[in-house]
Amino acid sequence: MQSLEDLLVDLDVDAKLQHVIHSILSASKEISFRVGMGAISGVHGAAETENVQGETQKKLDIISNQILLDILAKNPYVRSVASEEEDLPVACKSGAPYLVAYDPLDGSSNIDINGQIGTIFTILPAKDNVEDGAVEQYYQTGHDQVCAGYVLYGPATILLIAVQGEIHEFTLDKINKEFYQTKANVSLPHGTREFAINMANYHYWSEFYQKTITGLIKPESQDKTYNMRWNGAMVGDVHRVLTRGGVFLYPSDTKNPAQPAKLRLLYEAFPMAMLVEAAGGKANTEDGSIMQTELSELHQRVPVLIGDGDLVSRFMQS
Ligand code: AHG
Ligand code: MN
Ligand code: MN
Repeated sequence: MQSLEDLLVDLDVDAKLQHVIHSILSASKEISFRVGMGAISGVHGAAETENVQGETQKKLDIISNQILLDILAKNPYVRSVASEEEDLPVACKSGAPYLVAYDPLDGSSNIDINGQIGTIFTILPAKDNVEDGAVEQYYQTGHDQVCAGYVLYGPATILLIAVQGEIHEFTLDKINKEFYQTKANVSLPHGTREFAINMANYHYWSEFYQKTITGLIKPESQDKTYNMRWNGAMVGDVHRVLTRGGVFLYPSDTKNPAQPAKLRLLYEAFPMAMLVEAAGGKANTEDGSIMQTELSELHQRVPVLIGDGDLVSRFMQS
């Protein structure tokens, strides 16, 4: 079986970028180990703190963030890191070529129920005309990403990585502590009648979204209705979409007028869009391509519609 290191060499990935990817994955192995030990390793429960976005942090949010930060801060090729759990970017090695942004622990509400959780990451080129630790370093589009991926801590720990226009799946061998390739050139299956959306927000969606979802489940409107799945962790939902097809949707809603969209562009939407598009799917906000959107605020939130291109198009109003 091919190891990740071998694949990166075969793909002729820049050696410095390989080093950065290696650091992220070393951290993910440590997180995977802690997750696997569950309550014994003291990772369950709330931390009684809030992040900059006003969300209550779980102990594992903080621990995962620290593990990534500690490892990446030592990497000579990382200029700065941005995290869901950090108000501002953390400057690392001055003049280094890469930026790393991450959601250290996606699906926090699944931690205590032993459900699917993960780490989502993206790597961008650093800008030489901007201060090392400045937020403006990250004001780039999805197309600027040089690598993106997620590590899903499920029954198996699985890595999906997009680099050089390709997407590959690896599974962590927990004995040898190595990621081995389990799927090459992942391709999103088309035609699967499955959608993922938080139906509890139904009454807060636009009429267009209410009608389009109703159209998928109304027996009289089609031969076969759609099935629904909702993990409460984007990383699990997107992994299912990449594996089995369908669509993942988090549209805008009016539940909290101060926050019309939930998912973050930099470390949730950008990396998932890069992965899904590399697998032949589509990734949009309600206005157009996620990849073409330019970040203008570090923790900016956007509506997210990703998966099978035909299904994503059905949810685009124009
Ligand atoms: P996080 O745990 O990093 O804050 O992200 C949770 C996100 C995403 O993973 C998931 O799809 C969504 O929030 C779940 O939202 P609901 O609470 O509406 O189910
Ligand atoms: Mn998240
Ligand atoms: Mn998170």
